[in-house]
Amino acid sequence: MTPDELKAIVRTVPDFPAPGIRFRDITTLIGHGEGFAAAVAHLADRARAAGAEAVAGMEARGFIFGAAVAVTLGVGFVPVRKPGKLPVETISADYALEYGSDRLEIDPGAVAAGQKVAIVDDLIATGGTALAAAALLRKAGAQVPAALFAIDLPDLGGADRLRAEGIAVEALMQFE
Ligand code: PRP
Ligand code: HPA
Repeated sequence: MTPDELKAIVRTVPDFPAPGIRFRDITTLIGHGEGFAAAVAHLADRARAAGAEAVAGMEARGFIFGAAVAVTLGVGFVPVRKPGKLPVETISADYALEYGSDRLEIDPGAVAAGQKVAIVDDLIATGGTALAAAALLRKAGAQVPAALFAIDLPDLGGADRLRAEGIAVEALMQFE
């Protein structure tokens, strides 16, 4: 399936989580067997082209796409977690969300020095989540050549913020 065909499978929910917001919901994409497989294959092609030696995905929706991309490439998966979930000493970064703020954590031992780690998530909006993940991966010694998303909301500027950090950004589809 082409990215345009995949875009048609993403559901738009009006007024979620707040009035006036059109929420782009991947539930319908991941619930479509052929569509989910095609989205993962497209993301994996891009991760391979970026030379990814591991994939990092952000809790929770980034786990869905990121783990599938890692398996497709035959590389390891690095979970970027919400606070208090990892059973080891972590490094953490606070970040602003489109709706609120939160913290992400990784196990610094989950990446090797100089390892090329591609970030994969379902969606980039302001880029706060992906920037925090990239900062953590770099702090742990990894390189972050690329960040890959099923969906980009370009009006929110996140992709541009990542590119300004030297990270190549690709998304399968864009929504205004
Ligand atoms: C969503 C989405 C991205 C992030 C994008 O996750 O899955 O990770 O927001 O927003 P940003 O570019 O403005 O940072 P959310 O924090 O809602 O968590 P979830 O995956 O647990 O639903
Ligand atoms: N859809 C899903 N997740 C999101 C969105 C959206 O429109 N904006 C920020 N996170």
